[in-house]
Amino acid sequence: MPLKQIIANLRPKRPARLPGLVRFVGAGPGDPDLLTLKALRALQEADVVIHDGLVSGDIVRLATSALKFIPVGKKGFGSHTPQETINAHIVENAQKGYNVVRLKGGDPTVFARLDEEIEALETHDIAYDIVPGITAASASLATIGQSLTKRGRNASARILTGHDMKGFADHDWRALAGSGEVAAIYMGKRAARFIQGRLLMHGAAPETPVTVVENASRADQTVLATTLLNLPDAVEQANPTGPALMLWGLAPRDAATHPVLKQELA
Ligand SMILES: C[S@@+](CC[C@H](N)C(=O)[O-])C[C@H]1O[C@@H](n2cnc3c(N)ncnc32)[C@H](O)[C@@H]1O
Repeated sequence: MPLKQIIANLRPKRPARLPGLVRFVGAGPGDPDLLTLKALRALQEADVVIHDGLVSGDIVRLATSALKFIPVGKKGFGSHTPQETINAHIVENAQKGYNVVRLKGGDPTVFARLDEEIEALETHDIAYDIVPGITAASASLATIGQSLTKRGRNASARILTGHDMKGFADHDWRALAGSGEVAAIYMGKRAARFIQGRLLMHGAAPETPVTVVENASRADQTVLATTLLNLPDAVEQANPTGPALMLWGLAPRDAATHPVLKQELA
């Protein structure tokens, strides 16, 4: 028997009709160096990669043995793949016995509609696991050299979205308006004026710092340091076109001692 055939026979074979495993993998905020080793391994073992628009080509291409790449999801406010279609892609490919990687920007558990996809798998008795990734808030905080929590300033922090299915998202603005509060606001670019209005209405100090990090961790990242008073105008003027995260209550650390910011502000 030829050596190739012997090696092929030694490989464990998956029964043809058993559903494959679906792995929800966090691609992180963009820099491929911020992928976990587990995410990299999952990509290398994938037969099919179903990936969000926000995931960069550099990361998708790490799935070197994949047979199929299916782009789904949406970029900013552009066109998007309906959730039911995404669910159907995942289920159909798993039922064909493929190892499916559902690759999501950042962390799959943060504003990523993970539960809907898991429910679709549960309905069809398909096994899955979740590989966490670095969420945009962590990357943005690293960029500006600040902590999400700080002893003596804030013992808790919030993760918010600027939008939900119905439009601008409502939150506990009164609690957020208090001194020393910190929040990471996802999908907040278009909601900047709404957020400002709500916070001012609930007594937030107009000079509270707000920092908007666009394309965090990517080569084209930008940092916009402003205040609640100036937030909507500053965002409008900067007109960020990439994904952007708003850090409520935080200003960039002193640029003089922070290499990334020194470069940004030069
Ligand atoms: C649908 S949410 C997905 C969040 C993702 N699951 C995560 O954990 O980062 C998309 C939003 O995440 C934020 N975002 C994602 N990647 C980003 C990046 N590299 N820099 C700044 N914000 C980012 C933006 O607010 C964007 O509108």
